[in-house]
Amino acid sequence: MLSAQMTVMYGKFRTSIITIQSCLVSTSLHFYKMENMKIGTKFIHAGAEPDPSTGAIMIPIYQTSTYVQAAPGQHKGFEYARSQNPTRKALEDTLAIIENGKYGLAFSSGVAATDAVVKLLSPGDEVIATNDMYGGTYRLFTKVFEKFGLKFRYVDMRDPANIEAQVNEHTKLIWTETPTNPLMNITDIASVAAIAKKCNALLCVDNTFASPYLQNPLDMGADIVMHSSTKYLGGHSDVIQGALMMNDANLREQLYFIQKSCGAVPGPMDCFLVMRGIKTLHVRMQRHCENGEKIAYFLRNHPAIAEVFWCGFEDHPGYYIAKTQMRGFGGMMSFTLKDNSPANVTKVLSSTRIFSLAESLGGVESLINHPASMTHASIPREERIKNGLADSLIRLSVGIEDAEDLIEDLNNAIGK
Ligand SMILES: Cc1ncc(COP(=O)(O)O)c(C=O)c1O
Repeated sequence: MLSAQMTVMYGKFRTSIITIQSCLVSTSLHFYKMENMKIGTKFIHAGAEPDPSTGAIMIPIYQTSTYVQAAPGQHKGFEYARSQNPTRKALEDTLAIIENGKYGLAFSSGVAATDAVVKLLSPGDEVIATNDMYGGTYRLFTKVFEKFGLKFRYVDMRDPANIEAQVNEHTKLIWTETPTNPLMNITDIASVAAIAKKCNALLCVDNTFASPYLQNPLDMGADIVMHSSTKYLGGHSDVIQGALMMNDANLREQLYFIQKSCGAVPGPMDCFLVMRGIKTLHVRMQRHCENGEKIAYFLRNHPAIAEVFWCGFEDHPGYYIAKTQMRGFGGMMSFTLKDNSPANVTKVLSSTRIFSLAESLGGVESLINHPASMTHASIPREERIKNGLADSLIRLSVGIEDAEDLIEDLNNAIGK
């Protein structure tokens, strides 16, 4: 009896502490304006309001499919977890902030996020897309959406004039990746945004390779930013997820409608993992950039290497645009060998000990990849060759290990 009374008393006391604490925690962040914060502070604090019921500093994983209503329609803003989930909402707020946008939406994969953007269109509409991009995006466009009456025109976006030449009254979307996967080509985002505006089309930039640490396309006039959060945002190769960020409320409503109607939403655990990843994005990216630079120069000076594709070289055709629109050059690169026989390429791909041969990128660990047979196999060979993607091309996602170990590993694998 006594202990039950004490529990009740403690319960009341605890409730009042929580009430006071939630006032404190919920007001404390309002002293700071996110837009005034430097990038690292922003990545750590974006969307991270302490949980009002307990003060938990990390957003809880709301592992629930539904929410109890007091009476029909009387709820706390959450009805069914395909439409809303508090963990996803915290992540979506974070996504908006890190891309300097007003709205963020999270999807079950990067491809699902791309799929949602294309579903804004109607039969007869046309898309101008970059001719060098992730193979899965090309597959989605050509194999899934073409049969619904959409037309895709692929152009070399290194020169914005090539885009202008393809614009017509049916153009509704311009899709670019910069830097591109895997050739590290650079698109001038501000110039393409001006073209999109002029022809009343949306510009969507796949910002996966750069990450919001290196580049913010919304600031340069893009309408939508897309991420495979699987990569640098998550950062630990333990989650598949996608993201869209935008400024326009009407566009957000349309994309939210597609998100809940088509249902490609991420689970709360995965949202938690991406939120945790974002907190260290700036620190990881600094190291990806440092290691990337060391490895790019090591490869360039290696006698067995024919060509290195990395946008931080001053003689890279997109260097000056990259320097204006990016804060660094990142850890993604690709290269070809002088002996580009399939046997030698296979030997190099199979001989690294620290670089793991695997699809994907952007994790803390270094990965080596063969685009022609792995990430870009879904693009027909003639198309790949036409766009400069050789069968012998090797792609690296340089991780954040010690650069000396990575260089030694590559040196051993490449040989003389
Ligand atoms: C540049 C780029 N965009 C989009 C995607 C697709 O993302 P996801 O694998 O998360 O669906 C990838 C995947 O590798 C990618 O590299």
